[in-house]
Amino acid sequence: MPVKVAVYGLGPIGMLIARKVLERKDLELVAAFETDPSKIGRDVGELIDIGERIGLIVTRDSEATEILRRSGSDVVLHATSSFLDKIYPQIVKCVEAGADLISTSETLANPWYRYPQLASEIDRMARENNVSIIGAGVNPGFVFDALPILMTLICTRIDCLRVTRSLDAGKRRFSFQKKYGLALSIDEFKRKMESGEITAHVGYGESVGLIANALRVNLTRIVEKQEPIVSEKPLKTQYFEIMPGRVAGVHGYGIGYVGGKELIRVELLAEAGREEFEEVIIEGEPLVKWRSTGIAGDTATAAVIINLIPKVLEARPGLLRITDIPLPSAFLTLKTD
Ligand SMILES: NC(=O)c1ccc[n+]([C@@H]2O[C@H](COP(=O)([O-])OP(=O)(O)OC[C@H]3O[C@@H](n4cnc5c(N)ncnc54)[C@H](OP(=O)(O)O)[C@@H]3O)[C@@H](O)[C@H]2O)c1
Repeated sequence: MPVKVAVYGLGPIGMLIARKVLERKDLELVAAFETDPSKIGRDVGELIDIGERIGLIVTRDSEATEILRRSGSDVVLHATSSFLDKIYPQIVKCVEAGADLISTSETLANPWYRYPQLASEIDRMARENNVSIIGAGVNPGFVFDALPILMTLICTRIDCLRVTRSLDAGKRRFSFQKKYGLALSIDEFKRKMESGEITAHVGYGESVGLIANALRVNLTRIVEKQEPIVSEKPLKTQYFEIMPGRVAGVHGYGIGYVGGKELIRVELLAEAGREEFEEVIIEGEPLVKWRSTGIAGDTATAAVIINLIPKVLEARPGLLRITDIPLPSAFLTLKTD
């Protein structure tokens, strides 16, 4: 029997997740929720542009609990927004329907870091209703946390762990380029970041906290910072023209200190035209150095969300982190024997 899946939020990431679900015979898409009036009432297949209607209509998220119950949804794949206080009512709807939830929400990846009270409340609610909830994706969920955590397995001593992600912001989806403030003036960027209108990357502290938890180290403090990268020449992406002196990208980091010593650093350079790579360096015994040629972020996020399905269905009830999943991986089939 295929696992019954609902998709909650059909922005670019939710749509990609829906497309990937429809490619698999072991998953059945049974519900899809949105708030955008231009998407509600449309056939999912038509909306996500797979060239055919699939007979499933996008419904209003206010009806989610009832539809999740009626459709027998086993798990909700959720991709609406980053901040836990905003998505809390959406989580409640899924929990009340008895469906597990896997979300791209960055702050849900380690909710005890930014929202300790809400995290405890969601954990209690999930346990009472026998459901499992997790936040993950490419980052947080992999690049700045699960990946370096796994690499520490081969170390007998760790003096400092650094992860760097360098990506070409100009190749990313519109919502990504917008939230990184591409083409804004420096003043506009600062104003919009302060007001929360744009966020750039969310999750530095969450990832640093996940690594520290895994290493069983008490950090003295976590510092997060993001600043604009100023364009030195005219640049053009699919969505923005960037004049010199305007925002070409963002440099951000999260650092975890023990006393005055930097133990963990996760650093992001997201800029139009930038070389793509991920790098993990662990200074210790032995020295570990690993470097990629760039991970396809959106596809990787959809993969992480879908690949967690069998692990989350098998997991204990409650609020989980990627570090609570025993060696996360892809699944080729749902068969267990
Ligand atoms: N962890 C990771 O690695 C990772 C990776 C990629 C993305 N993300 C996060 O995943 C989220 C989705 O990304 P995106 O680029 O697709 O974002 P997006 O462009 O903002 O799309 C979100 C969609 O969800 C809809 N929505 C908002 N509130 C809703 C609700 N209550 N019920 C149903 N639908 C709702 C939005 O509709 P409206 O337009 O009407 O608001 C929009 O269509 C973002 O928060 C992003 O930061 C995380």
